[in-house]
Amino acid sequence: MSAAAGTDESPPSSNLVEAGTPLLVIKDVGKDYVSGAGIVRALRTINFVVNQGEFVAIIGTSGSGKSTLMNILGCLDRPTRGTYTLAGVDVGGRTADGRAIVRNRVIGFIFQGFNLLSRTTALENVELPLSYRGVSAKERRSRAERALASVGLATRTDHTPNQLSGGQQQRVAIARALVTDPPLLLADEPTGNLDTRTSLEVLALLQKLNVERGITIILVTHEPDIAQCAGRMITFRDGNIVEDRRVEDRKDAAHELSLLPPPEVYVAPGAGTADGALAALLAARKPVPFGVTWRLLLGTILGVLLGFLYGKYLVGKPVPGVGPGLGFLLEARFAAGYFQGEWGHQPAWRQSLKVAFWYSLGTLLLLGIVVLAAPPDALATFLTKGGGAAVTFAAASLGAVVVLTGIRFALARLAAYLHPKPKG
Ligand SMILES: Nc1ncnc2c1ncn2[C@@H]1O[C@H](COP(=O)(O)OP(=O)(O)O)[C@@H](O)[C@H]1O
Ligand SMILES: [Mg+2]
Repeated sequence: MSAAAGTDESPPSSNLVEAGTPLLVIKDVGKDYVSGAGIVRALRTINFVVNQGEFVAIIGTSGSGKSTLMNILGCLDRPTRGTYTLAGVDVGGRTADGRAIVRNRVIGFIFQGFNLLSRTTALENVELPLSYRGVSAKERRSRAERALASVGLATRTDHTPNQLSGGQQQRVAIARALVTDPPLLLADEPTGNLDTRTSLEVLALLQKLNVERGITIILVTHEPDIAQCAGRMITFRDGNIVEDRRVEDRKDAAHELSLLPPPEVYVAPGAGTADGALAALLAARKPVPFGVTWRLLLGTILGVLLGFLYGKYLVGKPVPGVGPGLGFLLEARFAAGYFQGEWGHQPAWRQSLKVAFWYSLGTLLLLGIVVLAAPPDALATFLTKGGGAAVTFAAASLGAVVVLTGIRFALARLAAYLHPKPKG
């Protein structure tokens, strides 16, 4: 184990073994599953060697044994027959605990379904493997930030998975796999849920990691196009290797990507525009930030004041509806201004109006409750005779805070109702 283990302070380098020497050796490996229907021979007799720094694609139809092999390579399962040697250590024969240690230190995993924790930010997802290793919080954070930056997600660290596109989620998963600096990366159908462009983006990233950092990659896919990006292709059929060859005219994913037509203008929730960020905020059922609430309140007050001045000086008598109407428009305008300042892009009018609408409704409801709950003339009595300006001011301030907090949460709930969580 000594060769495979790094200390937590100095993560294992990508050079576990000398370049060109075997990193892993699979010798006469077989795997049977025993089930009610009898024995399934998922792997028959498998032999192959992978050298440090290789990029291997494993291809084959569904049920041919690819995932079974990956589970063995990843030390999640052990072979029924044969031996598996990783960096000179016979891991096939180790206990479950022994395998867990190897797995944690030597191997990074990427799955088809991303396997991210959904209510947890990208940063926390990436930190997770480090917390199993007793790394300090500060160190965890800086390493997770570095890993996210290395997959191009430095600006998305506090997004939760539902605020990220599929490709971004897979990149978070790759960052999580990389954060422990594993010399070996195992990916089981990592592009299975992604479209062509996003698949190429992920492949380009994997190729870069392979070339620049010398990370050995073993990738399972059933798509020949994807396998063409690897340096070597091993084909499985019915639990056997039927072909093992170098890839001729290997594809450069970054180059392929540059040949694609420009991406469709689709804004994934939270993808960086105020519109998306606002939708994501609402969809994540987070309260609308306090910064907006103050501006909304300012909009109301200004609108009502303008309405009052308009009636008094231009018309000569109060005109009902003008104040609230102006207030409503100003609320939407100020909300838009806030999001512009926060996210560098003004949200759609529809969005701003929605925020103003729910805010107004929330305010009216809360005021209604206050009026209904208070005895008819208690408020007036309190304001006129309740102990002077200071008490009135304090009570009003407290009331404003209570109302604002109420509105903030009412808004979040109502908005969540309006914007059900996006699917997929
Ligand atoms: N846990 C299991 N129990 C019983 N049979 C299994 C189990 N896992 C896989 N198999 C069987 O082993 C064979 C290979 O499966 P798998 O490795 O998942 O194939 P692939 O990933 O290539 O689609 C299939 O026939 C599958 O039904
Ligand atoms: Mg599979």
